[in-house]
Amino acid sequence: MSKLRATITGVGGYVPDYRLSNDELSQMVETSDEWIMTRIGIKERRILKEKGRGSSDLGVGAVRQLLEKTNTHPDEIDLVICPTVTPDMQFPATANIISDKVGIKNAFSFDLNAGCSGFLYAMSTASKFIVSGQYKKVVVVGAEKMSSIVDYQDRATCPIFGDGAGALLMEPTGEDYGLMDEKLQVDGSGRKHLHQKAGGSVKPATHETVDAREHYIYQEGQQVFKAAVARMADVSVEIMERNNIAPDELNWLVPHQANMRIIEATARRMGIKKEQVMINIQRYGNTTAATLPLCLWEWEEKLNKGDNLIFATFGAGFTWGSIYVKWGYDGKNNTP
Ligand code: UT7
Repeated sequence: MSKLRATITGVGGYVPDYRLSNDELSQMVETSDEWIMTRIGIKERRILKEKGRGSSDLGVGAVRQLLEKTNTHPDEIDLVICPTVTPDMQFPATANIISDKVGIKNAFSFDLNAGCSGFLYAMSTASKFIVSGQYKKVVVVGAEKMSSIVDYQDRATCPIFGDGAGALLMEPTGEDYGLMDEKLQVDGSGRKHLHQKAGGSVKPATHETVDAREHYIYQEGQQVFKAAVARMADVSVEIMERNNIAPDELNWLVPHQANMRIIEATARRMGIKKEQVMINIQRYGNTTAATLPLCLWEWEEKLNKGDNLIFATFGAGFTWGSIYVKWGYDGKNNTP
């Protein structure tokens, strides 16, 4: 028998109804559909408009669907991990709020902040809990209301981000499926290029920080772009090579959806075709910790047991990484 691994056994997703189009954005800032499509590749993004609702409400939609699809009772869940940069509140954790709202009572839960690499870090963390043998059913739910920290007066950042949530169920298996290999990295010095200036312990909220618009995303786009292209590609190629996966043996690249040009550059370096890449950036934009599970949510029906998937991300931190997954079930049956 091979060693215990953590495998994905179900996928759920949720996006709010409201579609913010490039044309509507063009009425808010000086931009155009043509610029956004050429430089970023996003047509529209979903926005959670209702007042008083936050990332947990998006996460609840994804987790409810996940539990339903996998015939899982909330009491069976052992652990919930929520990667997010837009928690409902500074504390308590959004994972706790999601657990409460969906009726998960026999679990422990926590948030994880690794920017756009949050979902990969959380998958890796979940897998360690499972491989320990102590926990059997772990929910990883990336949930982001990015519109709560986007400055809709800043044309360099407001076209990029959208709201959404995606969730995976992860369980142990003795078979050779699931998380096979990973490489996760961080370079904290990259924080100067991508961060939120105020609202933390260094610079708590004041009238001045609000007036200076310091509670929004601050991004030096070109610096982030350059680092993302180099590092996402490097780490994905390394994972491919050390697992002896030839380009035509890779079924799917599941990349973070930040910029179409970054996705294309990564695919080029890996020597794979565009048809091997999950891309939904046109519809949802960059949903930070929710991009990877939202890809799986849309592609689940096309996934077959034994497929080779490489996940790749780059984001605030800087954080980046890649995980190799051997897919564990035929997606068209929707249940493992
Ligand atoms: O997920 C987290 C990680 N984030 C990322 O991976 C994002 C990485 N960065 C990017 O995707 C790109 O850098 C951006 C999409 C943010 C910007 O694209 P760019 O091609 O790097 O543009 P730029 O910042 O070099 O700006 C080029 C020009 C500037 O005008 P000038 O100075 O040449 O006259 C900008 O002011 O484009 C202008 N510009 C715009 N024009 C129309 C910037 N934003 C816009 C806009 N519409 N929305």
